[in-house]
Amino acid sequence: MLHLQCHFGLDTLSWVRDEDVGHATGVDFSPTAISTARELRDQIGLSEERARFIESDLYELPATLSEAFDVVFTSYGTIYWLPDLDRWAEVIATHLEPGGIFYIADGHPFANPFHYESTIDDLDVAHPYFNEEAITEEHDGSYAGWDFGLENKRSHGFSHPIGEIVTALNDAGLRIEFIHEFPWSFFQRFETMDVDDNGRWWLPGSDHDLPLTFSLKAQNPA
Ligand SMILES: C[S@@+](CC[C@H](N)C(=O)[O-])C[C@H]1O[C@@H](n2cnc3c(N)ncnc32)[C@H](O)[C@@H]1O
Repeated sequence: MLHLQCHFGLDTLSWVRDEDVGHATGVDFSPTAISTARELRDQIGLSEERARFIESDLYELPATLSEAFDVVFTSYGTIYWLPDLDRWAEVIATHLEPGGIFYIADGHPFANPFHYESTIDDLDVAHPYFNEEAITEEHDGSYAGWDFGLENKRSHGFSHPIGEIVTALNDAGLRIEFIHEFPWSFFQRFETMDVDDNGRWWLPGSDHDLPLTFSLKAQNPA
């Protein structure tokens, strides 16, 4: 398995603990994240053969890694940080064996335009749904916590509509098997959200569920 944008590798390591996953390679361009991932791997006594972590920009990966994998996986907070999905899909196709599968679970782009302080009765459109330009914001914290007092406060993200995601993967030669949509978020996307026992965040007062998370499976045709 190839795990793209693995951050500090917790999900990569969880996958390797599953007996069906013999070997996983996590990739991220943050040196701090990759060195922490290697430390965690060592702490739980897994070998580099089972869980390998590579520091690389995703877009540069084909230049440093020649292998193809049975599964390419990425989840929760990934494509929003990538400017170019056509190139992203090409990288995925390059590293997938014929017959191999690609799976992504991430925030639904439907919710990207709305301001953090939006409520179900007042969805305040602050950004375009379409990928017209980078979404630049300044915050003291991040999705991981809002009170960190960050030194570097500015972030740039990119809203990729569902159509752009599907078309990029299709153009790279993959066959889409499904897209599933869910009415909960994996992080506190809006200020008024409540979290349930499974760590899923819900907009209160909603009689009409909105799509806040999606998953997609695609295959590299044999
Ligand atoms: C929100 S985190 C993903 C979190 C991950 N799902 C987890 O649970 O740990 C996004 C990650 O994407 C990485 N990233 C952003 N742009 C990248 C790029 N062009 N190449 C490689 N990694 C990138 C960041 O360093 C960060 O670790």
